[in-house]
Amino acid sequence: MSHDWARVRADFPLLQREVHGKPLVYFDSANTGQKPAAVIDATDAFYRSHNANVSRAVHALGNEATEAYEGARGKLARHLNVRADELVLTSGTTFAINLVAYSWALPRLQPGDAILLTRMEHHANIVPWQLVAQRTGATIKVAEISTDGVLDLDALDAAMTPGVKLLGVTHVSNVLGTINPVGEICRRARKRGITTVVDGSQALPHMAVDIPAIGCDFYALTGHKMCGPTGTGALWGRREHLAAMPPFLGGGEMISEVRFDGTTFNDPPHRFEAGTPNIAGHVGLGAAVDYLDAIGMDAIAAREQELLAHLTEEMRRIDGLRIIGNAPDKAAVVSFLLQGAHGHDLATLLDLEGVAVRSGHHCAHPLMQFYGVPATCRASLAFYNTHAEIDAFTAALRKVRKLLL
Ligand SMILES: Cc1ncc(COP(=O)(O)O)c(C=O)c1O
Repeated sequence: MSHDWARVRADFPLLQREVHGKPLVYFDSANTGQKPAAVIDATDAFYRSHNANVSRAVHALGNEATEAYEGARGKLARHLNVRADELVLTSGTTFAINLVAYSWALPRLQPGDAILLTRMEHHANIVPWQLVAQRTGATIKVAEISTDGVLDLDALDAAMTPGVKLLGVTHVSNVLGTINPVGEICRRARKRGITTVVDGSQALPHMAVDIPAIGCDFYALTGHKMCGPTGTGALWGRREHLAAMPPFLGGGEMISEVRFDGTTFNDPPHRFEAGTPNIAGHVGLGAAVDYLDAIGMDAIAAREQELLAHLTEEMRRIDGLRIIGNAPDKAAVVSFLLQGAHGHDLATLLDLEGVAVRSGHHCAHPLMQFYGVPATCRASLAFYNTHAEIDAFTAALRKVRKLLL
């Protein structure tokens, strides 16, 4: 099915605005994605017409709120091809990974065990494991990458030694754009009895994700990068893991019965959703899933690959520009350095041209250390971007380059 991408773009109110008197070119979607009117309207409609707490009231509004919240869980579950009762709604990936760290890993790991990570992980898939390692005596191992930003699968294989109990791997790198073959990686890990945690934050915005086909044990995701509101996300976990895991946080909603001589806990996923959740946010995330599904993730992926090819070709024409991350399988995320220019100066001057890119370490210090740089600039696209914006961006880059050099 062919799409009218100009009409799709018109669904995003913010993309119509100007910045510093110039039309906005928003190339920072890996940081957070823009929201279509359908998502803004769904959140707004929840507060205007259905607002109540979930699962606590029998009145009509309470039922409507519970239905809307659980409905969103169901939409996300269908989108990922999993069961809704295996999907814990969280504030995002950071919470989701910490939930695995504290509820699955902390009670299990001991001295002599190891946690295997890759060089290209976001801090959200490093620091929770370091905290677990400190408390359990386990160690952290790192699988390296090539300078093109491709995971070395043989090295990863070799690192899966008997002590390794858990593997944390990102589906798509937020810096390099590399799409990792997570299905193959999880298959290899599973053969060795290693539990796998896939960070799907940067995959969900760009492609169809079928969790059972990947074959991981846990899959973490964040809603705000996939057109949903901030403070939304989920952890998918295999039923047997979730059923065996103690709660991470205690409070209302996650219990079955509370007595001073002992409390029994609710079943998953509610066991892991203590307190009042982000109801309106997740209703918005449900609308985001509807929105993405209506376009189709395969159409989105194809559109973004076209944009990426154009962007890469144009950027390669600019003298002194080096792209960091040249994996053959890449999402529309391009990190770069411009010889002689400081990333922050570059991003600041691009902003004056109406172009929003991120400059910094992108919460991936170990990856910056690998490339021997303190920071990169990153242009990250979504299906709502256009070829004309790519041309405006590269024209702005050339202009800024002249100013800086
Ligand atoms: C690869 C990756 N993992 C994890 C995160 C953390 O997501 P959140 O801050 O939404 O929890 C991000 C966000 O930038 C990311 O890009």
